[in-house]
Amino acid sequence: MSGGADVPTAGDRTLELDAPAKVNLWLHVRGRSADGYHVLDTVFQSLELADSVTVRCRPRVPPTGERVRLSVTGTVPCPGGRDNLCVRAAEAYLERWPAPVAVEIELEKRIPVGAGLGGGSSDAASVLLALRRLLGAPGRRAELEATARTLGADVPFFLVGGTARGRGRGDFVEPLPDLRPSPLWLIAPPVELSTAAVFAEHTRSAEHTRSTRGSAATGGEPIALPVDRRIERWILGNDLEPSARALCPGLEAIYTALQRFGFPSVQLSGSGGVVFGIPPRGARPESLARDLEGAGKIYVTRTRSRRAFGAA
Ligand code: C5P
Repeated sequence: MSGGADVPTAGDRTLELDAPAKVNLWLHVRGRSADGYHVLDTVFQSLELADSVTVRCRPRVPPTGERVRLSVTGTVPCPGGRDNLCVRAAEAYLERWPAPVAVEIELEKRIPVGAGLGGGSSDAASVLLALRRLLGAPGRRAELEATARTLGADVPFFLVGGTARGRGRGDFVEPLPDLRPSPLWLIAPPVELSTAAVFAEHTRSAEHTRSTRGSAATGGEPIALPVDRRIERWILGNDLEPSARALCPGLEAIYTALQRFGFPSVQLSGSGGVVFGIPPRGARPESLARDLEGAGKIYVTRTRSRRAFGAA
């Protein structure tokens, strides 16, 4: 950004929101729909680990140039301009609910990218929520969800936060009562995993299984969710895990180190490559870092309840 035009004026309205990461406590692939997307049944859980999104609306439409501008800071590199979902979220919002404003977004990035933590989707949802508040909440909540759905399968969850079940592409979200708060450690391999590539590998291996064994590798009846509110009871498996492990051989060293370290359950989040688990009592990240021998970076975090979900 440049010069005096960036100094806030009296008519500017600004809002800063946390954009939390998520893990999928459970992810079941039920099949594929006609459009090629996978039909899911999943449980999302939002986390303390978060990006920070500041949205400023200026009360005028610039005569020339881009109406939505983005600047990115923070520890994690991520794309700028229209390649960033934040910009597309603001554009989609203004398309649906036109307003005579220019929008500036500052994104402080901390959530690793291509990790299955939903960072880009959460940033986009925060932009939608911020614009809705700054511009006087036009439209119904369901319409905001519909706009979120056009941006990506995980975006509607981040309008809700806490613990929630996702069906369809994962984009039809039903809030669930919060689980008991828990520490969670995330281990990110040094490579990004493409969501599309992991789903494509899942399809390929499911078709291979069908052709060689005459049965489908996905589908079936979804399990009943536990009544117990302890999070360890909800870490119930991820059908994308074999595909992510096939595409990212480096994950093996992470699983091995976490199991050896005494993590009771260890699971991939979303399409990966982050692997997460509840740390054993008294565990120290420095000790795990030694065991990992550079196979992954540790993020120490906790679950975030819906009540504590900043944007809700
Ligand atoms: O919705 P999102 O942009 O996050 O999805 C990225 C890609 O992941 C899609 O283009 C699709 O290839 C795949 N995907 C899928 N089924 C889902 C969600 C994503 O096949 N339920």
